[in-house]
Amino acid sequence: MKTENLGYSQSDIEKAVSILRLGGLVAIPTETVYGLAADATNDEAVSKIFKAKGRPAFNPLIIHVKNIKMAQQYVQWNEAAEILTKKFWPGPLTIVLPSTKNSQIAETARANLPSVAIRMPSHPVALEILRQFNRPLAAPSANLSGKISSTSIDHVLKNLNQKIDAIVDGGNSTVGVESTIVTLTRVPTILRTGFITPEAVSNALGAKIANYDNEGPIIAPGQLKSHYAPKAKLRLDAIDWKQGEKKLGFGDVECDMNLSKGKSLTEAAQNLFNFLHILDSSNPRTISVSPIPNEGIGLAINDRLKRASIQE
Ligand code: TXA
Ligand code: MG
Repeated sequence: MKTENLGYSQSDIEKAVSILRLGGLVAIPTETVYGLAADATNDEAVSKIFKAKGRPAFNPLIIHVKNIKMAQQYVQWNEAAEILTKKFWPGPLTIVLPSTKNSQIAETARANLPSVAIRMPSHPVALEILRQFNRPLAAPSANLSGKISSTSIDHVLKNLNQKIDAIVDGGNSTVGVESTIVTLTRVPTILRTGFITPEAVSNALGAKIANYDNEGPIIAPGQLKSHYAPKAKLRLDAIDWKQGEKKLGFGDVECDMNLSKGKSLTEAAQNLFNFLHILDSSNPRTISVSPIPNEGIGLAINDRLKRASIQE
């Protein structure tokens, strides 16, 4: 299949929407990472996402909506949802809530779970597509399952060229790491860290937020231990460099690429996946990474690096 390269002019967006209406796959820009979108109410279209990514069927997808009202059609709203979405939508926060009865969301997208993960992205191109499509879009990150996520169309095309119908170029993702996921089906608990920090969520809710612990009972079905993985081995918390390694630095260090010379965690998150793609493309055996402070957005960066360092 030929993958059509689209920009974000009105006619390009109309084209993308018509492909989605026909049950096709379109990679779309979001503020976090690129998403691989399909009509969330079309079982066959959603199945194509799993096939293109090589994603296990037990790993549910995030449903993207154009506004809160659309979200309320598919999930049972509660007070915490009201507070968090008022504060953080549109933006990089996904909430998990019980599905509404007779929801039109395809069961394949939910991996047959009784809950749904849902978010309203803030990227203007994603929002315009959602407005014109006027239906929810299922969209996991636009990469092969388990591999590095995509923050530009180059990254998407590297893995998914000719496997999807189209790609909409909306520039580089500004956040750079996936949305924060909070489940509200129980005591609010962070399932995946992201740009919106645990402190920000706690402050909004006026209560300390629990953190999902991999060792505890399984409440985040798709949280694969090994993920975001480059071909190279990753050596984390490197305080010295070894010969032959590619060096991914942070702060005032000599290295091949620097996530942020000025030690900005926001800048480091923006650069993370792009720099991993670039360093990995020269096929080194190892990429070593400077220590990243484990606070704020650093929690998300370290989570992604840790999963990326685990070999399957
Ligand atoms: O920023 C993002 O969230 C990006 C952009 C494209 O929106 N999407 C993204 O999707 O990161 P994906 O598929 O790579 O990650 C979705 C995560 C998985 O870990 C999955 O297990 C979890 O969301 N998830 C989906 N539905 C869930 C549910 N009902 N309960 C718990 N976790 C769920
Ligand atoms: Mg992903």
